[in-house]
Amino acid sequence: MAATGGKLMHAVQYEAYGGGAAALKHVDVPIPIPKKGELLVKLEAASINPIDWKIQKGVIWPFLPRKFPFRPVTDVAGEVVEVGSGVDFKPGDKVVSFLSGSGGGFAEYAVASASKTAKRPAEVSAVEAAGLPVAGVTALQTLKSAGISFGSGGSEKAANILVTAASGGVGLYAVQLAKLGNCHVTATCGARNLELVKNVGADEVLDYKTPGGAALESPSGKKYDAVIHCTTGIPWSTFEPNLAESGKVIDITPNVTAFLTAAIKKITFSKKQLVPLLVIPKREDVEFLVGLVKEGKLKTVVDSRHPLSQAEAAWAKSIDGHATGKVVVEIGSREAE
Ligand SMILES: NC(=O)c1ccc[n+]([C@@H]2O[C@H](COP(=O)([O-])OP(=O)(O)OC[C@H]3O[C@@H](n4cnc5c(N)ncnc54)[C@H](OP(=O)(O)O)[C@@H]3O)[C@@H](O)[C@H]2O)c1
Repeated sequence: MAATGGKLMHAVQYEAYGGGAAALKHVDVPIPIPKKGELLVKLEAASINPIDWKIQKGVIWPFLPRKFPFRPVTDVAGEVVEVGSGVDFKPGDKVVSFLSGSGGGFAEYAVASASKTAKRPAEVSAVEAAGLPVAGVTALQTLKSAGISFGSGGSEKAANILVTAASGGVGLYAVQLAKLGNCHVTATCGARNLELVKNVGADEVLDYKTPGGAALESPSGKKYDAVIHCTTGIPWSTFEPNLAESGKVIDITPNVTAFLTAAIKKITFSKKQLVPLLVIPKREDVEFLVGLVKEGKLKTVVDSRHPLSQAEAAWAKSIDGHATGKVVVEIGSREAE
């Protein structure tokens, strides 16, 4: 029998759609057992993404949750304690994982697929790593989709990039990565985060509540080659005059209107395009980002840290929509005792 077989762990889950933080329940459940291609990870940190609580709201009904009770959160970091067959990890390895649609990050242990897990060197803390799988990889994939490359010195031509909601989980990684990709970065955020967003590398920052910020106008008159669009509610008519001749808006929260606009731009062969993007968390992308964190080139800005015993506070903080960087739940000896 596995070392953890039959033992219980603390976990946080919900039993139906809706209810927000108040619907989270603390339970003791059996520690899961890894199968072929899987690892059992003793969790040290989990970071919340808006999709986690949007799933609770039912936005991807009937696909997720597949069943109730559902233990949310996909982005975790911890230490491997058991392995199934056919994996290139061993107990004691520090890792960061994406748990996919089955979730499970609000717990002391989780089973992760080896194919969605990256090793984490000692220099990269669990909290820093836990921010990367969805938010970091989304930022990376949006920039790649805008043609930005990250070889030595980044893209050959310095592209002008606008990052909207640059103070959020995705936006703060996007600003840093765009700079590593040799871009000129304009960013929007609230007044309280102007300094922070500049400090992580933005060349110019707009307060989204001012007329110039709402109009997305670059103070230096740049036209954007790409917009990494991390908020909602901005119509195409606002983006259009700010785009370069072949500028693209990469929209990570597309609604029906955005999909329609994207289709119209495509079939009319418009040079300016709107591109809806859904992240596909890939192990190699997480490994690339972990490497950047290790080298000190990328940092995870942490909004707040909460113990698993207060997961509700973390959940509410993310739902509130005003996090600056990542909301992280730390899971450790406090819960295990
Ligand atoms: N397509 C995908 O695969 C994918 C992947 C990841 C995330 N997403 C989606 O992308 C969105 C952003 O995710 P996230 O994790 O970055 O969210 P987040 O961390 O919750 O973003 C919060 C931040 O957004 C800022 N903000 C809100 N409205 C703004 C506006 N109009 N202009 C500028 N800043 C604004 C807030 O600033 P203030 O507090 O100052 O208002 C806050 O700092 C979410 O809707 C998420 O579901 C999609």
